[in-house]
Amino acid sequence: MSSINYSEKIPNNVDLAGDRTLQRALEQWQPNFLAWWGDMGPEGSQGFDVYLRTATSVDPKGWAQFGYVKMPDYRWGIFLNPAEEGRRIHFGDHLGEPAWQSVPGEHRANLRRIIVTQGDTEPASVEQQRHLGLTAPSMYDLRNLFQVNVEEGRHLWAMVYLLHRHFGRDGREEAEALLERRSGDADNPRILGAFNERTPDWLSFFMFTYFTDRDGKFQLCALAESGFDPLARTTRFMLTEEAHHMFVGESGVSRVIQRTCEVMNELGTDDPARLRAAGVIDLPTIQRYLNFHFSVTIDLFGADQSSNAAIFYSTGIKGRFEEGKRADDHVLKSDSYRVLEVVDGALVEKEVPMLNALNEVLRDDFIKDSIGGVSRWNKVIEKAGQPFRLQVPHKAFNRRIGGLSGVRVSPAGEVVSEAQWRENESRWLANEDDRAFVASLMGRVVEPGRFANWIAPPMIGINRQPVDFEYIRFN
Ligand SMILES: [Fe+2]
Ligand SMILES: [Fe+2]
Repeated sequence: MSSINYSEKIPNNVDLAGDRTLQRALEQWQPNFLAWWGDMGPEGSQGFDVYLRTATSVDPKGWAQFGYVKMPDYRWGIFLNPAEEGRRIHFGDHLGEPAWQSVPGEHRANLRRIIVTQGDTEPASVEQQRHLGLTAPSMYDLRNLFQVNVEEGRHLWAMVYLLHRHFGRDGREEAEALLERRSGDADNPRILGAFNERTPDWLSFFMFTYFTDRDGKFQLCALAESGFDPLARTTRFMLTEEAHHMFVGESGVSRVIQRTCEVMNELGTDDPARLRAAGVIDLPTIQRYLNFHFSVTIDLFGADQSSNAAIFYSTGIKGRFEEGKRADDHVLKSDSYRVLEVVDGALVEKEVPMLNALNEVLRDDFIKDSIGGVSRWNKVIEKAGQPFRLQVPHKAFNRRIGGLSGVRVSPAGEVVSEAQWRENESRWLANEDDRAFVASLMGRVVEPGRFANWIAPPMIGINRQPVDFEYIRFN
């Protein structure tokens, strides 16, 4: 059951034809999805032939096939990793019991909430990125944007399948609501804060795919451990697609840095004004973008202490990142974890029951993982012989959620007064001037092999094609 049936209206490897009621319900949702894509999908992309990869099986080797696809004709479908024979729940109070193939009544509300929250982020990011095609720095980048967008669309399908298949009428209603909320809408916004922020330029897009898609990776990894087997199998396949999104972000930021360093060396200056006049993004501006996207993204993990997180874990519906590789009892009732709090104007660590701190555990795993790419960015700067180093800000910096939301903390981790914050905010976070400058660089460059002045070409093309390959035929 690993190969995908493309002869049906909805490509799938879940034998959709064997469940007529479900098939009909999803076939009714499909035109609404396509209408949403038409309204909120990438602007001005209709009719382009785009060199995209499409899943042909869920086999880890060779699941992807590359070829030209007309943008709205992408074959979105339902792909689950194969079932693991005799899989058992491996954490929480149900440890050792067989994994659930259907939703246990007592966990129904929580599971639905988790699936809806994950599902909501997928169309949200497409909405956030819908204007970027108009200012793509190259044909190669435009193709990558479209690849990310169609896969986020498919991730929505993945969650909608679970809602339709396992949650009856309220699942179907939730599936409709996923097409009705809009990123940034005052009346009907997306569920999570970072998914209502704008992604106005390509530096934001690269930071978003580096940091915020990585939040996606960690959430999906935690759900891939779930005792609810269909959720685990769905999210495992989603993770194979997510890796490319983070690659787009990491390599995108890296190429921006590389280009900036080239011009720094050509002009023999690190003066932001001179670099901006030369049409590249100075490193301090990149740092401020990084500070913004990092801090907004780590809020997505939720409050540092959360009884919901404890319930999700103990009931077996959401595990930890790499749960199976951890050498503890996987029940965690007698473990503790350190979280930060402010005492007398200083940040101090305090021990709390680990079960309540599982959001913080996942956030810390994310932070460790995101630091890796930042050091690879620093290698680019170092190789260019420049002394500047990018840094991940302190995790208490610019927080809006959890115990740290009430304090002002500098990127270096010092608690500051409201007045100090105001005075420094525009040095710490991308400010209006930065955004206006970056916006001024955005202009569409889409001839094969050409790149905007502010970004270096990639080392290699997609699917081993040359960098100047015709990734998009505009027709
Ligand atoms: Fe996604
Ligand atoms: Fe993604």
